[in-house]
Amino acid sequence: MHIHGATALVTGANRGLGRSFALELLRRGATVYATARRPELVDIPGVRPLRLDITDAAQVDAVAAAAGDVDLLINNAADTNGGNLITGDLRAIRSVMDTNFHGTLAMIRAFAPILARNGGGAILNVLSAAAWTTVDGNAAYAASKSAEWGLTNNVRMELAAQGTLVSALIPGLIGTQTLFDFAEQHGIEFGEGAVIDPADLVTVALDGLEADEVEIFDSLGRTAKQALSGPPISFPFAV
Ligand SMILES: NC(=O)c1ccc[n+]([C@@H]2O[C@H](COP(=O)([O-])OP(=O)(O)OC[C@H]3O[C@@H](n4cnc5c(N)ncnc54)[C@H](OP(=O)(O)O)[C@@H]3O)[C@@H](O)[C@H]2O)c1
Repeated sequence: MHIHGATALVTGANRGLGRSFALELLRRGATVYATARRPELVDIPGVRPLRLDITDAAQVDAVAAAAGDVDLLINNAADTNGGNLITGDLRAIRSVMDTNFHGTLAMIRAFAPILARNGGGAILNVLSAAAWTTVDGNAAYAASKSAEWGLTNNVRMELAAQGTLVSALIPGLIGTQTLFDFAEQHGIEFGEGAVIDPADLVTVALDGLEADEVEIFDSLGRTAKQALSGPPISFPFAV
């Protein structure tokens, strides 16, 4: 996948990792649709802001109609607030699954024909090491990322014939406000070097896409994958 000259669409581009994706894609010479639930919050000159809540079918359709030249879809948006599965609010748990699984799937279904028309292109799903671990305080999120991993592997198989690269980014801890808020709420302190800067992660992710990698890791993500052959472990680990 060549980023220079590509046309990319990023979900949740108004803040956090999505904003870093939009910035670095622009820097590498891509055209960028920066989508957000509130596009007025997208503050990056040179991108094309579009309104998009990925759980809203009409908005997904409207964005697909407006962005028919996309050949790189970056599914970054996520609901990170599900709480635990037994004690948490059921509505919050459903929202996490609606967003992270069904919303991501809705985007892939809407853009699969567009990517096919534009030569195959690529999809990057932003997963998490949480997919392969347990997260006390946010078990619903971890489970949704496990589901999104299964989704990613299966759409890769389904879209292979049209030449679409389906890749997963599996980070551990990304230094966004959302992570710092979660850590403060749960009294977690991260060790030296445990948290990756969003801009550094985006560099790793886009380099991986340029190399056509199907799974792209930071160091905690790679540790989580290696640990899969042993008993289930909790997250954050080794921090
Ligand atoms: N931070 C971490 O430590 C970490 C670790 C591993 C993986 N990840 C993954 O990395 C990605 C980005 O994380 P982050 O820390 O940058 O998150 P963030 O700062 O909380 O940003 C989440 C983004 O998703 C958007 N969003 C939420 N629900 C949406 C919906 N229904 N439709 C469209 N957009 C929606 C938010 O929009 P609003 O501004 O409107 O709320 C926001 O733009 C996520 O997939 C997350 O699971 C994060």
